[in-house]
Amino acid sequence: MRILILPVFALLASCQITGGDAEPAQDAPMVSPILTSEDARDEYSYAQPEVARVTHVALDLALDFDAKTAGGTATLDILAADGADTVVLDSSGLEIASITDQEGMGLAFAVGATKEGMGEPITVKMGDARKLVVAYKTRSGAEALQWLAPAQTAGGKFPYLFSQGQPTLNRTWIPTQDSPGIRQTWEARITAPEPLTVVMSAARVGEPEAAGNGRRAFKFEMDKPVAPYLIAIAAGDLVFRDLGPRTGVWTEPAMIDRAAAELEDTEKMVAAAEKLYGPYRWGRYDMIVLPPSFPYGGMENPTLTFLTPTFLAGDKSLNGLVAHELAHSWSGNLVTNANWSDSWINEGVTSYFENRIMEALYGKQRAMQEAALQFDGMEEAIAENGADADITRLHLPKDADTPDGGASGIIYDKGAIFLRTMEQIVGRQKFDAWLMSWFDRHAFQPATSAMIVADLRENLIKGDAELEKKLMLDEWVYEPGIPSNVWRPDPQAFAAVDAAATAYGADGKIDAAAWQGWTTAERLRFMSRLPQQRSADQLAQLDSALGLSQEGNNEVLFAWLELALANRYDPAVPVAEDFLAQVGRRKFVAPLFKTLMEQGEWGQPIAKRIYAKTRKTYHSVTTGTVDKTLSGE
Ligand code: BES
Ligand code: ZN
Repeated sequence: MRILILPVFALLASCQITGGDAEPAQDAPMVSPILTSEDARDEYSYAQPEVARVTHVALDLALDFDAKTAGGTATLDILAADGADTVVLDSSGLEIASITDQEGMGLAFAVGATKEGMGEPITVKMGDARKLVVAYKTRSGAEALQWLAPAQTAGGKFPYLFSQGQPTLNRTWIPTQDSPGIRQTWEARITAPEPLTVVMSAARVGEPEAAGNGRRAFKFEMDKPVAPYLIAIAAGDLVFRDLGPRTGVWTEPAMIDRAAAELEDTEKMVAAAEKLYGPYRWGRYDMIVLPPSFPYGGMENPTLTFLTPTFLAGDKSLNGLVAHELAHSWSGNLVTNANWSDSWINEGVTSYFENRIMEALYGKQRAMQEAALQFDGMEEAIAENGADADITRLHLPKDADTPDGGASGIIYDKGAIFLRTMEQIVGRQKFDAWLMSWFDRHAFQPATSAMIVADLRENLIKGDAELEKKLMLDEWVYEPGIPSNVWRPDPQAFAAVDAAATAYGADGKIDAAAWQGWTTAERLRFMSRLPQQRSADQLAQLDSALGLSQEGNNEVLFAWLELALANRYDPAVPVAEDFLAQVGRRKFVAPLFKTLMEQGEWGQPIAKRIYAKTRKTYHSVTTGTVDKTLSGE
């Protein structure tokens, strides 16, 4: 393994991330280089990687489900510039008992002031020590962790724990440098009470061992350097089922049949992804289907994607989610945004890649419709924010204050449409060759907008002045709004559905038979194109003709509830209440509360009444957003 250490003064002289001359070898990835450019600097971390950085984390933790804390030690390997004697770690509420060197000699450390969204720096006087042992415990309420009571699980008998690290939450349970530009290998030994099973985003080492007091120890090892937001844990009453030679799914026993059926195409997705953009470099691709309070649709934790159960529709119609999280194994986990103002490098590239996997598995028709919905998402974000709003840039300004990456219609959808536009201009073959080589050249490295633009110039445009002009790279990456060369979806993609929505708007007739034959994408498009101001009678008709209140597809159900609540439709309230009590996914929960709050005297008391009951069942990611909505912020 080659490691590059730059003294601090070299940092100032250089203005790009230095990858050294080492080729990123496939089986022995490099530890990512020390940050050297200002646009790579992460505003959301206290770390000073140019002085000293963590290269390896070894966790030894016990899970306490009664106290809802994890505690033990984190042993950190440090790589430091010559003469450096301090290292700065990220923390958010960690209760540090001691920090020692390898021999157990105490080291002085100072915990700085806490800043909202950042936590607090821990500055360790390490002297010559290059291995630190941090003894600590998580605070109860640590934002990354959600400790579920048995009643919040499918089985109802055992407690459950899961973590969500991205973007800046892992510092609430791991004392390390929590910045996407600082990659670390890691290992863990975790104990939990029987019969709970612990899984993590890394290879399992051996079988669980008895650890005394009715507990078992589980071991894990990640030998490839990953960004620290990708360290993840879940524990509960879990079973595993193989889906293919290197794919499988974990979930509670009551969910395993449904989960395995919905995920049956996973092995084929991995093969399709490899065929598109090169080898899958992480060994196994497993997934865990979590309880419904998981705040996201999915999270691309390496070797173990975390999934919401709300994507289980019974017909694989929402499995684009799996293609998406799988695609992150290249865009995000292999090549990682150096900081969160370049989230589009993770999410936009992934949303494009997702669509290509969907095309390979299910054909052009489904992929085109899903791409057309991405186009709609982009246009909606522009319409909502204005074509000159800062937030509509792919590369977000440093002061944008959006560690979440900004508006999804921009980061995900505009990002994806940018890649699609380039594909259309240069041709699929040439574009795919470039994208595969981008992943290869930057494997296990952080990336910035400046780097991807430079790479496109060097390896795709190669001095072709006409192509340079056609691509409009700088407009796409740095300017707000939508550049004039934008790819547009085939107008036929939704021709029939749009005609049906127009007809319904004109004469109120609902073609229930046509609806029955539509894909999920078509139904969602219909819901977005029908007139959005509806009377109670009209909503009752829609509901009875299409069975919307009993809809089993959560995306369609959510679209219905949005429409119904925005029109103050009383019969939808109990359905919404049930949904909000079952599901904690922020993408569903936050907009429904927002819609209710926008409905003044009608909606606000309903929102407050429901939230008073459901708040305690949500993960901090979801309450963080909904708290603001309800307090009128
Ligand atoms: N990495 C994201 C989730 C995320 C983004 C967590 C930003 C924290 C901060 C994940 O890959 C994702 O995009 N999930 C989407 C899936 C969808 C686009 C298919 C989601 O959760 O809805
Ligand atoms: Zn994503």
